[in-house]
Amino acid sequence: MIDRIFQIAPAGGLLAVDGWLRELFFHRTEESTVAGASEHLYMVIFYVSTFFFVLLMGLTVLFTLRYRRRPGVAPERSAAHNTALELTWTIVPLIILVYFFFKGFWGYMDHVVAPAESTELVVSARKWSWDVMYPNGARSPETVRVGAVDVPVIVVPAGRPVRMRMSSQDVIHSFWVPDYRVKFDVFPNRYTAIWFEPTWTDDPTPGANDHWVFCAEYCGDLHAEMAAIIRVVPEDEYRATVADWAVPKGTPEEIGRQLRIIRGCNSCHSVDGTPLVGPTWQNLFGYERTLANGQTVVADENYLRESILVPQAKIVQGFPGSMPPYQGQLSDLELEALITYIRSLSDRKPAVDLPPADGEGQDAAAPEADGAAEEGAGAAGED
Ligand code: CUA
Repeated sequence: MIDRIFQIAPAGGLLAVDGWLRELFFHRTEESTVAGASEHLYMVIFYVSTFFFVLLMGLTVLFTLRYRRRPGVAPERSAAHNTALELTWTIVPLIILVYFFFKGFWGYMDHVVAPAESTELVVSARKWSWDVMYPNGARSPETVRVGAVDVPVIVVPAGRPVRMRMSSQDVIHSFWVPDYRVKFDVFPNRYTAIWFEPTWTDDPTPGANDHWVFCAEYCGDLHAEMAAIIRVVPEDEYRATVADWAVPKGTPEEIGRQLRIIRGCNSCHSVDGTPLVGPTWQNLFGYERTLANGQTVVADENYLRESILVPQAKIVQGFPGSMPPYQGQLSDLELEALITYIRSLSDRKPAVDLPPADGEGQDAAAPEADGAAEEGAGAAGED
């Protein structure tokens, strides 16, 4: 930490104090190009506040001692008016506040108006995960295990401005990247946007180029776990990764397994029998479900389809029914893949769920081909 301080403040006692305070307040500084302005303004406000706090409290204590009531001393009349003094304490704070206002206003404009050459990522928030779509239609299938949750990894190119165009599928969320000093509310039925230009560090510490994303607007049960990780990578690696992600790989079952993470199903549905906010997918297919209204249904393909597209149609007893509808959100291939995957997690799955190994290449390619052509088109355009 000491090294870091001298790195930030190479010379001078005051600069060293400034560096130490910045280390204390921000821990890691200037992780993106827009962060510096916020940090700078924060420090200026902090110093001005500290100066006036010490001045005013000092004078209060001084005057209290100096002019306290003492036996035998008659109270003096206070001055009723002092024009010079009043002008000073009006004009000096006014100038300081106007300076704060314009610095803040310009900083805000810089945060919300992205440079024209920005890479645009489409962020979709829902209870309780972040879904990020790249310009070629790709979505990240990568996650990092943090405690009991898998949080998605969003890769971004180092040294290029990235604009996040954001909307919500349900309630108000807030996209917050503390390292970048950016935070903006995410609303249903309306777009908001922020941007940042991530900087790359050669620091070999694991996670030195990873930055947390949190939800900063209380949105229900798993609000605290609605996180993601922004991973800064060199631009060529970014291009290769995103092109790779754009092509769905494997059998429908494997695609379904990836979609559970990509589409954020994993934040509410386990595959190991643990009930989370929603029912587990293990041994769901083929079993009888008791609904909130007391009816029972067998979880067949039609039940799965309806429960994904219109979750409110049949709420399972004991669960809150807080899932957003996916009608219009999933392609036919994605829906097919998810159902196939959920089916594969049940011991009541059909006897022949996948074609035999030698025929797998041909048979499995059929449903995959449509999706590859459809989603691959975007990737080809990017190259
Ligand atoms: Cu989403 Cu809090």
